[in-house]
Amino acid sequence: MGDLAKKTMELFSEYVMPTYAPKLVFSRGAGTFLFDTENRRYLDFAMGISVCNLGHCHPNVTAAITEQAGTLVHISNLYLNTLMPQLASELVGFGFDGKVFFCNSGAEANEGMIKLARKWGNASGGRNTVIAMENSFHGRTLATLAATGRSKYRKGFEPDMPGFKFVPFNDIAALENAITQDVCAVIMEPLQGEGGILPADQEYLKKVRGLCDQKNILLLFDEVQCGMGRMGTLFAHQSFGVKPDVLSMAKAMANGFPMGCMIASRKYADTLQPGNHASTFGGTALACAAALATLRTIKEENLLDNVKKQSEYLFRRLNEITKPYSFVKGVRGKGLMIGVVLDSPAAPLQQMLFKYDFITLTAGENVLRLLPPLNVSREECDMAIAAIEKGLADFSAQRKESLS
Ligand SMILES: Cc1ncc(COP(=O)(O)O)c(C=O)c1O
Repeated sequence: MGDLAKKTMELFSEYVMPTYAPKLVFSRGAGTFLFDTENRRYLDFAMGISVCNLGHCHPNVTAAITEQAGTLVHISNLYLNTLMPQLASELVGFGFDGKVFFCNSGAEANEGMIKLARKWGNASGGRNTVIAMENSFHGRTLATLAATGRSKYRKGFEPDMPGFKFVPFNDIAALENAITQDVCAVIMEPLQGEGGILPADQEYLKKVRGLCDQKNILLLFDEVQCGMGRMGTLFAHQSFGVKPDVLSMAKAMANGFPMGCMIASRKYADTLQPGNHASTFGGTALACAAALATLRTIKEENLLDNVKKQSEYLFRRLNEITKPYSFVKGVRGKGLMIGVVLDSPAAPLQQMLFKYDFITLTAGENVLRLLPPLNVSREECDMAIAAIEKGLADFSAQRKESLS
């Protein structure tokens, strides 16, 4: 580690709350690569956890931010900037007709969905319980934690906010049994990210949609991690063929500039009225300029097609190179949200890959998570495959050694 990185780490441990445990310091990013303070290059298949979907510092987004920063940054929601309604119309134009509320993060977007569902439910029969999925992750605020199905995230922050209950994911009978008079909504990730790259079964999702219609319950999709093109469709639900009533997005919306939103279908779009909900920075001109550039780039550069193409290739190659190893239990996911499932914790393999200058993530305990940018090239996929192949061989040798 160089002097600048050391100094940065020292300042971090002295002055920053220890909520994170970073191991590396980066000073620059370009496309699919990150550079540390010594200018060492790393292939990045984490992309800031599904945030920089166009790669680091995409020139279109950089130009849009630069220009907007010198034009108009923020005016509050008491007034209108010219970009926010434009962005809403272009988002909806990708095929989910409704109205948008802009905010700044995934948790905030999910809070908004939960508030919308409660307001609607309270007004239609005094219903305000939300059914969430076991193993889910919806954020770190108190309401989104209460909707998060992995108890380790809630531990220490009790009491849990009331009004939530959990059912197993992909289990339609359990969901049906859980729908009581007080239920107003079901919230779920179409593909669970933090929980271990677990896609919902398409047939299950269709049945969930049917149940929600039948019982007059809102279906809320958290597309914070799996949305914004990562499935090969702009909205994640489009790749499952099932429409929610309200969806949330954040992370990749502005390619790294903080932005989130919820979109409610027309029927529920006017549930929240003036004074019901707000966010100081929501839909600020600067964030909207970055998001517009991101959306338009996805369209202009045909990135949804690239997702499908590179996804097919990565799944095929990953299945091939993992075949010799019985400790690999499978490769799962969808689009460019891919998990290599191990029979043991994935962190040691991830650490090994760091050594080959390849950045990945883990998900759940046993899953190595790959989130390349939507514009990843075949050559970069091959670099990743070569690194994983090497990592698996070393990991296998290490496991044998520790057993002998
Ligand atoms: C599915 C999902 N929902 C919500 C969130 C929370 O997003 P944020 O950290 O922007 O609040 C995350 C973050 O990882 C997520 O993966």
